[in-house]
Amino acid sequence: MARRPLIAGNWKMNAGGADGCTLAANVARLTAGFGNVDMLVAPPFTALAAVAHELSQAPRKVFLAAQNMHFEMSGAFTGEVSPSMLKESGVEWVIIGHSERRHIFGETDTMIAKKVIAAMRERIVPIVCVGETLDEREAGQTLEVVQKQVLAFRGALAENPGYGVIAYEPVWAIGTGKVAKAEDAQEVHAMIRKLLAAASDELADTTRILYGGSVKADNAAGLLGQTDIDGALVGGASLDAAGFAKIAEAGNQVAAAQA
Ligand code: 13P
Repeated sequence: MARRPLIAGNWKMNAGGADGCTLAANVARLTAGFGNVDMLVAPPFTALAAVAHELSQAPRKVFLAAQNMHFEMSGAFTGEVSPSMLKESGVEWVIIGHSERRHIFGETDTMIAKKVIAAMRERIVPIVCVGETLDEREAGQTLEVVQKQVLAFRGALAENPGYGVIAYEPVWAIGTGKVAKAEDAQEVHAMIRKLLAAASDELADTTRILYGGSVKADNAAGLLGQTDIDGALVGGASLDAAGFAKIAEAGNQVAAAQA
């Protein structure tokens, strides 16, 4: 079945002030004609409310995501932001378990599963990230590592098939310019979909699985043309509205050709 491509921009620790509003407005303007794809931006916490306001006046729908959240609703968690706080800021999506959260900030599969459960319960769409390191890939452990990561939260996604999104981001491809070969990415995406199918066919058919890691305008079409790649989670290239729009255009063309 056709899954609508999702082109998501993870701004990481960039564009957290007024520049975030300009970037979001430009993304909406430059992608207004691409009706076959969903668009999403994930600014830093500090810019969320302002970008939500900016996007409410935009010429197309651009979904707004946070880059992280805590799983508790309130309490003594200095420096953390809760699901309900995100909702109050106009956020309806959240990236969970990004490799930088796992590797720099020590997030575990258990914490990530709690966050996915919290997001689903609060009606915030989780984009849950998985991916192997270079050492794991070279040791031939890619499928095993990704399987373990997916199984930690599959049950939560199965509660509402098609609501949550998975992003496969090989750690060695993030910010390195070393994009995965389209067929190698497809192999991992197909394995993830098989894991979803073991829970239910509906979960497998409706869950969007994005690829992330050095996606650029010139490699997007090859990746997005793969059967099980349903969109892109873009880091560096999402900070340039024109380049990001070119990735969206590639997704739009692939979707139009498949329709
Ligand atoms: P780059 O596109 O900069 O490689 O980052 C990918 C990423 O981490 C998106 O979440």
